[in-house]
Amino acid sequence: MTTGVDAGRLAALHQREVERFIAERPQSAAMFEHAKEHLHGGVPMSWMAKWPGPYPVFVQSAHGAHFTCVDGIDHVDLCLGDTGAMVGHSPDATVARVREQVERGITAMLPTADASVAAEELSRRFGLPQWQFTLSATDANRHVIRYARHVTGRAKVLVIDWCYHGTVDETFATLDGDQVVPRRGNIGAPVPPSETTVVVPFNDVPALERALATGEVACVLLEPAMTNIGIVLPDDGYHQALRRLTREHGTLLVMDETHTLCAGPGGCTAAWGLEPDVVVVGKTIGAGIPAGAFGFTSELSERIRRSVELEDIDVGGIGGTLAGNALSLAAVATTLTEVLMALMSPATTEADVDRHTEAFAECAGELFATQ
Ligand SMILES: Cc1ncc(COP(=O)(O)O)c(C=O)c1O
Repeated sequence: MTTGVDAGRLAALHQREVERFIAERPQSAAMFEHAKEHLHGGVPMSWMAKWPGPYPVFVQSAHGAHFTCVDGIDHVDLCLGDTGAMVGHSPDATVARVREQVERGITAMLPTADASVAAEELSRRFGLPQWQFTLSATDANRHVIRYARHVTGRAKVLVIDWCYHGTVDETFATLDGDQVVPRRGNIGAPVPPSETTVVVPFNDVPALERALATGEVACVLLEPAMTNIGIVLPDDGYHQALRRLTREHGTLLVMDETHTLCAGPGGCTAAWGLEPDVVVVGKTIGAGIPAGAFGFTSELSERIRRSVELEDIDVGGIGGTLAGNALSLAAVATTLTEVLMALMSPATTEADVDRHTEAFAECAGELFATQ
């Protein structure tokens, strides 16, 4: 007896959907053809071409949980800009504040009051007192890795097999047996990743223990629950073992909460009582206006302060001209304090929760009605 999916039927259904897609989206097709003249692959960034249909859908506008394409079709957006728009597309409060800030100055390479507001709110949520801002979660991860190497004097980063932390060279490594090898598709790797990276499977405490015992590992970088290969939850006791072992071996523990910040105020760090040395966030913290951040302990702040010369700070490999710019910080401060406040803040009242639960229910009802 054969079981499973009938491949012939699947191919026929796919073909039917492709034909429907083409019939309903002539404007996207025309724009894609035109775009190919000057955009590599017809898209502004190559992975936008990784689309199941014959061409990508070109977007006209997006609001809340929906976007409308250039052919006028309303889409319920279950991808939400791959979580960059996890707070909803263009939330009103952030839009209003950003509009105002655009008029008042976009970037000055100097701090604005919003930076402190954003840092204070992140501290309150994640329990880490010191913060720095970047333009993306990728940048935040890169900077954290540099600082970790710098303050520990160790060469290697430990990541989990099949992790994703953005386009960070050190993390495009996987296991082939017990060998660290480049991940498939790793484009132009600067050095073999085995030189920079140790890889262990998620939830494997003995492997972690063996790797940390070498004394080579500057930091462990991981998501508290893996979110890029489906959702993989930690086993009971995994985080406790991870924290104990990293402390024992003088290795910094970095939680990438870029996706898992949706677990509640302070992400999994707060929800599960974790005690990382560093937390990384990004994507939706500015409602999609480019922004990332990393927060860390006072102890690490002091170690960094003691080991970095102000004179060299701008050429040391940390930062970027637009990092922490006024517009990003206006977006982050407002998104954290106004858009997410009622949903994610521990200070939320029960009435707020009820109000938002109702709004969610309404939204979910709308979602299923639209499908
Ligand atoms: C866990 C995690 N961290 C970091 C990133 C990088 O985010 P960005 O591409 O916005 O820099 C991603 C991207 O998907 C991610 O999944």
